[in-house]
Amino acid sequence: MREKLLNLKNQALAQIISAENPDELERLRAHYLGKKGVLNELAKDLPHLEPALRAEIGQLFNEIKTAISQAISSTPKVQNRTLVSFDLTVPGMKPPQGHLHPVTKAIEEISGIFEKIGFIRVRYPEVDWDWYAFETLNMPKGHPARDDWETFFIDAPEHPKLGKIVLTPHTSNGQVREMERLGRPPIRMVNIAKCYRRQSDVSHTVMFHQFEGLVVDENINITHLKGTIDYFVKQFFGPDRKSRLRPYHFQFTEPSFEVDVTCDVCLGKGCKLCKEGWLELGGAGMVHPNVLKAGKIDSDKYTGFAFGWGVERTYMMKSGLKIPDLRLLYSNDIRFLNQF
Ligand code: DAH
Repeated sequence: MREKLLNLKNQALAQIISAENPDELERLRAHYLGKKGVLNELAKDLPHLEPALRAEIGQLFNEIKTAISQAISSTPKVQNRTLVSFDLTVPGMKPPQGHLHPVTKAIEEISGIFEKIGFIRVRYPEVDWDWYAFETLNMPKGHPARDDWETFFIDAPEHPKLGKIVLTPHTSNGQVREMERLGRPPIRMVNIAKCYRRQSDVSHTVMFHQFEGLVVDENINITHLKGTIDYFVKQFFGPDRKSRLRPYHFQFTEPSFEVDVTCDVCLGKGCKLCKEGWLELGGAGMVHPNVLKAGKIDSDKYTGFAFGWGVERTYMMKSGLKIPDLRLLYSNDIRFLNQF
């Protein structure tokens, strides 16, 4: 019955489309929808169906009647509807086209820049064990440094060794995971993933992205870190922007730095928008021997550097963007997104 009805609908619509004049349309209306029309005749079988099926088929009847009746009334009632001419040279209508989200574009650009110098793009879990997010990063349970990452915990049983499950507050959880995956250096990875923290204001969203670089090999030193950062800054922001390292503290790097980039407006001279000409990009440093040990890498033979920066934050520092509130990126406001 169902199939019969659907076939009937297709047949009726095809005939309506090719009807050439109003008389023919009226004839089709009577044939399908009239008192003694095909549909009413078929409906006589309805009472013989099982109750459950009857409701379904009854509804289908109504839908088909509406579809046919709408098709008839929306067909222009002109005599002899034949196409007279068609001008092939008239410009076509351009269908509206979307584009990738600015953050997705930034992620693609960042991966491309690092892939050019031999980094491998990886992606590690965004819901991970405390072990990878803190413990192996030289932050044992109860360490006060953990408070800097305002972490969401999953309400799940604790693992005796790996601990609780967290929404990763940074991409540094990929460091020891990558050491375990490869087994031994050389390591050159860029881990780009979502991160979560209990923070929301003009420069923070609860969900954001970070990109984490990690290089481990023999004889890796700070000059390699600075060279890599300079290369990235010039590629991503342009040749007129500079970077600098400022001493800082992280548990998982020694020494540790904060990386700054020159302000896109004053290029380092100092202006109303920046702190003395510099904008803070994110953290970096030389991998702490305890982290290498946690990844079963010989810390006497190998050294490494790492850095981890927010994708959205870094993107907002591009020249000329002037995005006043990071939350705009996730407001799903088409008027904002259309500008990119
Ligand atoms: N994970 C740090 C954060 O979220 C950033 C960071 C600092 C990453 C130093 C690193 C690093 O790899 O070496 O604030």
